Amino acid sequence: MSEQNVSEQSANDPELIQLRRTNRMLQQRVKQAERIRKQWSAAVLQLEESHEREKRISQQLVEKESFLSSITGSMNEGVYVINNDGELTFMNPKAEALLGWTQSELLGEDVHARVHAPRADGSLLEVAHCPVHKTLLDGRHHSTEKDWFQSRSGNSFPVAFFSSPLMEDGVQRGAVAVFRNIEQELEMEQRLIETEKMASLGGMVAGVAHEVNTPVGVGVTAITYISDETKNFQQAFAAGGLTKQSLSDYLDTMIESSEIAESNLGRAAKLIRDFKKVAVNQSITQCDTFLLKPHIEELLHSLQPRLKHRPLEVKLHCSDTLSIESDSGALTQILVNLIENSLIHAFEEDESGTLSIEVEELPHSGTQQKIRLSYRDDGRGMTEVVRQHIFEPFFTTCRGKGGSGLGMQIVYNLVVHRLQGTIQVESAEEQGAHFLIALPAVMQDQPDTTVERSN
Ligand SMILES: Nc1ncnc2c1ncn2[C@@H]1O[C@H](COP(=O)(O)OP(=O)(O)OP(=O)(O)O)[C@@H](O)[C@H]1O
Ligand SMILES: [Mg+2]
Repeated sequence: MSEQNVSEQSANDPELIQLRRTNRMLQQRVKQAERIRKQWSAAVLQLEESHEREKRISQQLVEKESFLSSITGSMNEGVYVINNDGELTFMNPKAEALLGWTQSELLGEDVHARVHAPRADGSLLEVAHCPVHKTLLDGRHHSTEKDWFQSRSGNSFPVAFFSSPLMEDGVQRGAVAVFRNIEQELEMEQRLIETEKMASLGGMVAGVAHEVNTPVGVGVTAITYISDETKNFQQAFAAGGLTKQSLSDYLDTMIESSEIAESNLGRAAKLIRDFKKVAVNQSITQCDTFLLKPHIEELLHSLQPRLKHRPLEVKLHCSDTLSIESDSGALTQILVNLIENSLIHAFEEDESGTLSIEVEELPHSGTQQKIRLSYRDDGRGMTEVVRQHIFEPFFTTCRGKGGSGLGMQIVYNLVVHRLQGTIQVESAEEQGAHFLIALPAVMQDQPDTTVERSN
């Protein structure tokens, strides 16, 4: 059989044809399988990557959580978090220790009623006034310097309290409250105040002793001298050796020495009187309602003997109907000291100038109606050093010329401690002096009213 016949025969061989077809199909399947294998391994790779990513994220989350909990865990402040419904979602160990509740016990609870201590009348701080709830409402920071919390056992303790919004992707999810027990701080503060009081009392006593020592010493020396001279005079008289000259010398000595004794003892007496006035918070408070304008006019009238020889204009601006419920005697004393100072320190005897008193009601702000009393002179003013020390006891630029440096200390004590007000001074050299006093229109009751008023 020729070669050609063989190939023709095989081309028509149905078995071969079938084999070829099967072969082609198999090749296509292999290609398909290869394609699927590639796709599959790409998907597996993707899955592996995303699994890896998830692992990384959850690892980061765990790290973050442990970082945050180690921060909140080591904080000396109590921290708790509430959601927008006011329910607790987190509490750190310090908050648990301070409040006596565990986080799991309060989870989902309305924490407000649990932590705030009831007031003396049994009522609780209203939710609307609670800083954390304010933060829930307005999304802002709120704080309070002193509030009262209670522990699970019912013990209440003072806290300082700060709240801030809890934000997630720009949306508020709740509020974070941070608080600390300030019991010890308050005790320390109180102790410090007591120590300062004692120190300033000690300083005052030392100051008074020092100030009174000199005039009393000079007075005693003068009287001793009078006594010695009188004994000598008596001996000379007894011996019959008195001359007209010795009598005249003796009288001169007596007049001079008694003048020295009188002025120095007078100065000591003034110091002691002023010192008594400084101790205003030991004096009884007399509170009455009076019209300010006639009260001040009467006071200015009583100062006429001091004012009438001076070329000074006194101006008073005050509404006829403005009244105050306060201690009228203290107010008089304040104005007298201010005017006295202007007469002594602001102007020379023959220098002209103006003293002005303006009284007005301040616009109502907060809980208390206030009255502003502004006193000014256009005299020589004071240096910055004098302005800064003006209210300190014994601070005077007139030592040795009759100034004890207690006048403005008395004014300060009367304004702040007796009349529950504030006082500021504005002044510069050659710019006059301006005293701004703010007083409550109605004075509150004062607790220590046991000792008699000192005059
Ligand atoms: N209106 C004023 N103008 C300028 N200086 C003043 C005025 N008022 C007070 N000072 C300064 O403040 C100081 C303290 O005043 P303060 O009234 O306390 O004491 P003082 O007048 O010197 O003595 P005193 O105890 O007798 O009042 C004064 O010595 C004076 O230097
Ligand atoms: Mg004075």
